[in-house]
This record gives sequence, C-alpha cells and structure tokens, in this order.
Amino acid sequence: MEKLPLVALISGRGSNLKAIIDTPNPLFEIRAVISNRYHAKGLAHAKQADIATEIIDHDLFNSRLEFDHALKNCINQYQAKLVILAGFMRILSPDFVNYYQGRLLNIHPSLLPAFKGLNTHKRALEAGVKEHGASVHFVTADLDAGPIIIQARVAVLADDNEASLSQRVLKQEHRIYPQSIQWFAQNRLRLEGQYAVLDDKPLIFNNTD
Ligand code: GAR
Repeated sequence: MEKLPLVALISGRGSNLKAIIDTPNPLFEIRAVISNRYHAKGLAHAKQADIATEIIDHDLFNSRLEFDHALKNCINQYQAKLVILAGFMRILSPDFVNYYQGRLLNIHPSLLPAFKGLNTHKRALEAGVKEHGASVHFVTADLDAGPIIIQARVAVLADDNEASLSQRVLKQEHRIYPQSIQWFAQNRLRLEGQYAVLDDKPLIFNNTD
C-alpha cells in the first residue's frame, strides 16, 4: 500500500513531530517539515531523519493572507494528502483552513472545548480542574474548535505545577497524535460535517465549555 504523504508544520521544540517520526510501522511518509521560525528546534529532528525542511518566516510577509498563500504553495509542492500542525503557533486564515478541510489536523494541550488558546496548563491549574489533557482535532475556521478525534485525560495532582502537568500531558500527546495519523492513513478516519468519523461511527465527546 502506498504510504500517505504528509507535511508537518511546526514552530518550536518539535517533540510531537519526533514522536510521529518515531512511529513504529508508519503508514505515512513525512514528505516535509515546514517551520515559520528559523530557530525551531524541531527542524533538527526532521534533518536527522532525512526529511526535507522548509522555513517560511511569517515576519517577511505583509499580511496573514500572503503568508498563508506562501505556506499553501510550499505544502502543495510536496503533494501532501494530510497536513498536521505539530506545535504550529500561527492562526491560519479561513481560506487556508477551508482549502485543506478534512485533511488538516491539530493537537491542542487541553480537553477541548476547555482552555482553547494559549497557556493551557497554567489556566487549568488556576481553574482548579481535576482532569486535564490533550485533544487531536480536525482544524476548522473556528480556533481550536474543530471536530475532536481523540482525547487523553490526565489527573491533576495536588502538587502539580505547570512543568509537571505539561510533562504528563505531553507524554499523552506523543501517543494520541501518531494514533490519529495512523487512523487517517488507514482510511479509517474522516471529517463528516460536524463530526470526526472513525470506522463509519461519529466520534462524540460530551465535554462542555
Ligand atoms: C504541544 O503541547 C502542543 O499541543 C501545543 O504546543 C506544544 C508543542 O510542543 N500546541 C498548541 O498549543 C497549539 N494551539 P512540541 O513542539 O514539542 O510538539
């Protein structure tokens, strides 16, 4: 079977990228890793694995639309059938998101819809929640609100701080992101209206805001 060609977008450390690169028996092929920052540490993981790297510095563009246009051109050079955001810290325009609808995934460090946006671990601790975690979802034009594919739940401990909590959540991220990508590569996962569908069953998450 032909491996699913994918492109990963990163902005920083790239630990999720590394977990995806290290997936045993991958049914996908990472064709390129694109960073919007020159110094993203994750680029080293790509180079080490002989994966093409590209840098598209958002500061060199006058508008989000121009940046997104350049990003799209770059992705499409690699004929990606799936695009994954792995710690990509730029908001993408609705045009970009709609263009890749159903083949654009993101991982977010919270149990969505709780704690959309930044500083999720700090905010979870401040809110005193008992459970925290991570979510993989299809990206739609609404920030961090696309249909959820999988979540990992992590208990918040009495002596947790941001570092300890984020470390436990990250460990789970490294499990659920490769899993979601494998499902997609096996043609078991798709976006259908408001739901992610796995093995023809809609994935329903009863979380509340
Ligand atoms: C991860 O925790 C990921 O969930 C988060 O950034 C981190 C990137 O780490 N993404 C977001 O917050 C997106 N809104 P990594 O570069 O080591 O994979």
